[in-house]
Amino acid sequence: MHEAALATLDRNWRGGYTVPSPRLYPFQWNWDSGFIALGLAWHRPERALQEIRSMFRGQWANGLLPHINFHESSPDYFPGPAVWQTAAVAAAPRGLATSGITQPPVFAFVVERLLTTPVAQLPEWANFLAEIYPKILAFHRYLYTHRDPHGEGLVYIQHNWESGTDNSPAWDSVFDAIDVSRAREVAHLRRDTRSVDAAHRPTDENYRRYITLVDLFARCGYDDAAIARESPFLVQDVLFNSLLARSNLSLIALGRRLGADTREIETWHARTIAAINTKLWDPARGFYFSYDLRAGHSIPIKTSSGFMPLFAGICDATQRAALARHLVTSFAPDERWRLCPSTAVDEPAFDPVKYWRGPVWVNVNWMLYHGLLRSGLPELAARVKRDTLAYLREEGLWEYFDPRPPTAGRTRGLGTDGFSWSAALALDWLHHETPL
Ligand code: GLC
Repeated sequence: MHEAALATLDRNWRGGYTVPSPRLYPFQWNWDSGFIALGLAWHRPERALQEIRSMFRGQWANGLLPHINFHESSPDYFPGPAVWQTAAVAAAPRGLATSGITQPPVFAFVVERLLTTPVAQLPEWANFLAEIYPKILAFHRYLYTHRDPHGEGLVYIQHNWESGTDNSPAWDSVFDAIDVSRAREVAHLRRDTRSVDAAHRPTDENYRRYITLVDLFARCGYDDAAIARESPFLVQDVLFNSLLARSNLSLIALGRRLGADTREIETWHARTIAAINTKLWDPARGFYFSYDLRAGHSIPIKTSSGFMPLFAGICDATQRAALARHLVTSFAPDERWRLCPSTAVDEPAFDPVKYWRGPVWVNVNWMLYHGLLRSGLPELAARVKRDTLAYLREEGLWEYFDPRPPTAGRTRGLGTDGFSWSAALALDWLHHETPL
């Protein structure tokens, strides 16, 4: 597995950045690149720095860190730069095409973790830290000033691709409310379903809605105030806000190292953890749920995102116990199931092979592992790690995995193989025992 992971990262390296997978995702993705840097750290430390620097080359003047940097053109990808139409936006960078939305904020905790890897021994490290800190800070500031219209301490996502959990059933009710009767057809433009089994990917109906939102953003010229007024998709996602909270903590730690004034971040942080624990916590069900800001109600579907407050380290004893119970009941009916399905097995929408509607993802498991350790639940943490490494060893470095007990003749590795963050986080697990 170790050799395969190294070979995968080398194969997916494009001289400056890493593609998540050559066939399906031929550019640089935001949170992928953060997780990938953690794997590069051990054998290719210089590349870890290049990876992060390449990602921030795409940062907009208003602080937005795009979810894709289109470093090269590729006819095999939809939606490409022609659909995003960000070239005309004043805040977008010159000389590099990017998408116009973001992804969960991982870079502060990624950079903090690099401190305890060979990367921090590079002569360049101190310069890198001083250079990257204000950029990450600008991204967090963008989120708090552009994505939190009521000053709640919770930022909203404006597209399901910003959640990282693309076709999670949590977004179904939002998309069902979108009228696409006059929207353009996009099924014939898709490329993903040519290289990967369509049964494992989002449906055409979903895709049409995803692109309808992108078309709306382009029409609004990526003006966040206009989007907040007009868009049907405004969601306070529990994963996104939990990663923001975790990253705030790391940013404070990095800022203090640099002798910076971190009070602004501390204020954000306090508001965010309080808001996650009130607005997104459901005491009756003992679980965290995202909130549909447009419709004005919580989205009561149990997904693995609901465990991410553990990773942020913001749960009290009652919350930790309730989450632990859910993990070993509704997410794994018995010991033969592997953790952690992206959607609870007892949800009607659960689908064991369809992307974020049931399969296990390595990055979520890695964050869950650290969250469980940090929450004083080492046995459960060990189970998550064991389950993940077993998949990677037995099946290979797939994008996601079927959580059901094995059956002869059914393959459990799904999506695309040679997937970069599966390889990178395997390396982090194999080299780095320290909890984050
Ligand atoms: C899919 C995933 C997303 C990831 C991207 C690139 O869209 O849902 O989380 O960043 O692929 O790997």
